Parts: sequence; C-alpha cells; structure tokens
Amino acid sequence: MSDPGTTLAAWHATVWAMLAAGVRDARAPARLPVLATVGVDGWPQARMVVLRAADAVAGVVEVHTDVLSPKVADLRTTPRAALQVWDAGGRLQIRLRCAVRVLTGAAVQGQWGRVPDLSRLAYGAVPPPGAPVPGPGDYGTEPGPGRFAVLRCEVMAMDVLHLGTPHRRAGFDRADGWRGQWLVP
Ligand SMILES: Cc1cc2nc3c(=O)[nH]c(=O)nc-3n(C[C@H](O)[C@H](O)[C@H](O)COP(=O)(O)O)c2cc1C
Repeated sequence: MSDPGTTLAAWHATVWAMLAAGVRDARAPARLPVLATVGVDGWPQARMVVLRAADAVAGVVEVHTDVLSPKVADLRTTPRAALQVWDAGGRLQIRLRCAVRVLTGAAVQGQWGRVPDLSRLAYGAVPPPGAPVPGPGDYGTEPGPGRFAVLRCEVMAMDVLHLGTPHRRAGFDRADGWRGQWLVP
C-alpha cells in the first residue's frame, strides 16, 4: 500500500482498503494484526490473529478463535481490545480501538460453514488452549462448532501513523462520524 494521501478522508479510506486487502490476501500486511486485550488478571495480553472480515460501512472487523481460549475469557470480562497493523512497505501503522462481542452458536453458523476442514482443527484443542500439559505434544483436537467463536470488533477509534518525510499522524473517532484530526506523530 502506498502513501495514504494528503487528506483525512483519504487516510480513512486507506485504512479500510488495507483492512479489506488483509481479509482477501494472505500476503497483505493487515492479514495478521496483533490483537491486544485486558487479561483477566489485569495484565495486557497481545497475540497475532488472522483478520477474517472488514466492513468499512459498519466499521467492524472480525477475528475467529477458540471459544475456550484465554482471550475469550479476557473479552468476556473486559469487552475491549486493540488491533494493530504494520505495513512495512507503506510505512504505515494502524491502531484500532474496538468494542468486542464474542459471538458463538447459531450466530456464527454461517462463518463456521465456510471454515475449511483443515482450519477447523484450530478450534477444539483438548485440553483447552493455555492448559498445562506434561509434554509439548500432549494434547488432542476435537473440533466442532461448539468451540468456534467470532470476535466482532466494532471499531470505536483509529490512530494512523505514516513514517514518511515528514512523519504524519491522524486520529479518527466513531463519535464524530470519522471526521478525523491530524495529530503530532
Ligand atoms: C501467524 C499466526 C496467526 C494466528 N491466528 C490466530 C487466529 O486467527 N485466531 C486465534 O485464536 N489465534 C491465532 N493465533 C494464535 C494466537 O496468536 C495465540 O497464540 C492463541 O490464540 C492463544 O492466545 P490466548 O491464549 O491469548 O487466547 C495465531 C498465531 C500466529 C503466529
């Protein structure tokens, strides 16, 4: 992705174009954002995830996960997350502040139906993700729709940093209709 342009509107559009590219192209920079949550113990927790959906009109992105993974417990306790993307080629950092809903069961039947068989193995480790085991291979998988969750991340605010010459930064808020504001980098 190249220069985000010179207007706030162009920057906003660039962010959503990058997110959309991440969903459809496994090699795009936004394919693998870092998802940060507030841990149930109060410590920050960050991990890489695959971006599965990006809806510019609704301002929503989605991530798939195992319902028994610790991040789901984090989000059920504190339904807030940050997503971070770095586009090294475009020298652009995107940070999204999100309000997250954990969707399961009938609400995610459609998405589960589109998960390829091999990928389904990611949703069903026994014992569950993060559980202590005697050795590194001492776990199995019992994948199924009951273990599948979609993290529906409603973007509330964005922070965008472009490391060009000069460095430039902008903030965008849902509350003001994504009007945007230039910020000191
Ligand atoms: C390249 C890459 C992609 C990943 N994609 C996902 C993903 O889409 N969903 C997911 O739950 N975990 C994904 N993971 C694993 C997470 O980073 C994390 O290790 C795991 O979900 C457990 O996190 P938790 O204990 O914080 O819940 C991915 C890891 C890597 C390295």
